[in-house]
Amino acid sequence: MNKITQLEINNQINEELFSSYLYLSMAAYAKERNLDGFANWFTIQAKEENDHAMGFYSYLLDAHGSVELQAIAKPENKFANPAVVFTEAFKHEQHITKRINFLYDLAEKEKDHALKSLLKWYLDEQIEEEANASKYVEKMKMAGDNGSALFMIDAELATRIYVPLNPRLA
Ligand code: FEO
Repeated sequence: MNKITQLEINNQINEELFSSYLYLSMAAYAKERNLDGFANWFTIQAKEENDHAMGFYSYLLDAHGSVELQAIAKPENKFANPAVVFTEAFKHEQHITKRINFLYDLAEKEKDHALKSLLKWYLDEQIEEEANASKYVEKMKMAGDNGSALFMIDAELATRIYVPLNPRLA
């Protein structure tokens, strides 16, 4: 594996761990406001991001690369309201999609077929990640300031269940 590919996979491990940290921060924001369903959804999202990071971590080791963990930036912990949390989550997922596309372009340029194969899982996952966040951006818009609508969305978010993801076994 060349040095640039190795560096960018290490950068992606950091991006995914930061994503986990960001969603954990969003979960705490929700929990502090007794939005238990929101907190459940974002806690599971944080766990999935850790799974995403581990997919790149284990790939890098198996491909005889070197893992170099970097400092994780401090995530935002102040949000204007619960709707903004989903808007920010959606924006963040769009950023991650750009990163995965960038990695795929790099793998194509380097003719790294194994990396392309791994990244196909992440490309599909990003479609789902953006769709999930965007769905709740829209639902929150519809709810507006209506307390009972917010209560219903919170109840829906409470039903999410964590299923461990393993990009290497997909
Ligand atoms: Fe790891 Fe939400 O993308």
